[in-house]
Amino acid sequence: MAKSIQAIRGMHDVLPHQSPLWQFLEGRIAGVLAAYGYREIRMPILEMTELFKRSIGEVTDIVEKEMYTFDDRNGDSLTLRPEGTAGCVRAAMEHGLLHNQTQRLWYQGPMFRHERPQKGRYRQFHQIGVETFGMAGPDIDAEVILITARIWEALGIEGLELQLNTLGTPHERAAHRQELVAYLEAHAAQLDADSRRRLQSNPLRILDSKNPDMREMLDAAPSLMAHLGDESRAHLDYVCGTLESIGVPYVINPRLVRGLDYYSRTVFEWVTDRLGAQGTVCAGGRYDGLVEQLGGRPVPAVGFAMGLERLAAMLEELNPEAVDAAVDVYLVLVGDAAAREGLVLAETLRDALPRLQLISNCGGGSIKAQFKRADRSGARFALVLGDTELADGTVVVKPLRSDEPQLAVARSELIDILSSRFPG
Ligand code: HAM
Repeated sequence: MAKSIQAIRGMHDVLPHQSPLWQFLEGRIAGVLAAYGYREIRMPILEMTELFKRSIGEVTDIVEKEMYTFDDRNGDSLTLRPEGTAGCVRAAMEHGLLHNQTQRLWYQGPMFRHERPQKGRYRQFHQIGVETFGMAGPDIDAEVILITARIWEALGIEGLELQLNTLGTPHERAAHRQELVAYLEAHAAQLDADSRRRLQSNPLRILDSKNPDMREMLDAAPSLMAHLGDESRAHLDYVCGTLESIGVPYVINPRLVRGLDYYSRTVFEWVTDRLGAQGTVCAGGRYDGLVEQLGGRPVPAVGFAMGLERLAAMLEELNPEAVDAAVDVYLVLVGDAAAREGLVLAETLRDALPRLQLISNCGGGSIKAQFKRADRSGARFALVLGDTELADGTVVVKPLRSDEPQLAVARSELIDILSSRFPG
């Protein structure tokens, strides 16, 4: 026998028993985004490689070692998107969505990064992301953070910590960079190989290192906070003040620098210690320079993306009862006459109760076999139609998830009974 083909490492199927959880997750998040007036945009999964190099940054883990890049048949270098911001900016520029207007956009879909797979880290994963354009003030920074807080509430996820930092302006970062490089050079002996490599190309990222041997030295490194001008400081204070007045707790983490190069001023992450090493469920910030960097006129922007696999894992642990996977009714049809009549009955019920989830038995089978299928389907009730019921115009209603007794009801009453049990 030929060896069967397996899914690619780090890429997962969402199986039928898991999809109710995903639908719940996506539906609740979309509901919150709609309530804030955000509109969905859908971008292609493939983009020109150049787009990601120019936006995420040449000297980032993503661009240096994680992208799925290949030449297509025309010889163009294409990349499976590792994130959504770059494509969203490209689409917004290309379609004139950024001319003298504000935009509040969201997207969802698969992203691809060739990382080492582990719990919470995959090579194909899914994000829901938000990008806003044309708003320079800190009010929109606060709004996007408040959206994320409301999403946790809508999902019933508790215990996430909001970490906040500012990366200042490019000018402020340049001043800090000089001081930082001098400090790191003075401590070069303690730097690991990765950090030494980044010393000139991207020293800020060294602060983000998880290497415990460098922790103490990095804790004492010069902070960007000291280089902030009045405007950057006021911007951060406004965001913090808004979060405080609305009651969203946060901590300032001066070492939060993000793994993508396009950020300026506000950056934030929501983290948990429940998911092991991959504890960031949502991350984002302001990126005022990106549109210009990609060839447009300067447009301020801020956004975030959340990792759906990580949220699904949290939801499964913290709030599984919120997810309703059950079917309402399984129609058991005993005998040929009932099988034929049952399809008619099922359509009548669907006409009257459009939201009722009803599975009609197909393919015959003994009553025992059909009840087994009914049970597997997760249905709350079985409706039974056999020769006896056909003869006297009734249907048996049998609860499958409780000890309540079954009862035979007249066909003419069935719709009323079901609509009282399953009110739309
Ligand atoms: P990011 O921090 O690279 O930011 O990813 C955002 C989130 O996606 C992470 O916090 C995590 O939950 C999830 N994620 C990332 N990589 C993986 C992976 N390999 N497996 C599972 N989940 C993962 C961005 O992508 C930015 N585009 C966010 C943004 C939007 N900033 C401004 N606008």
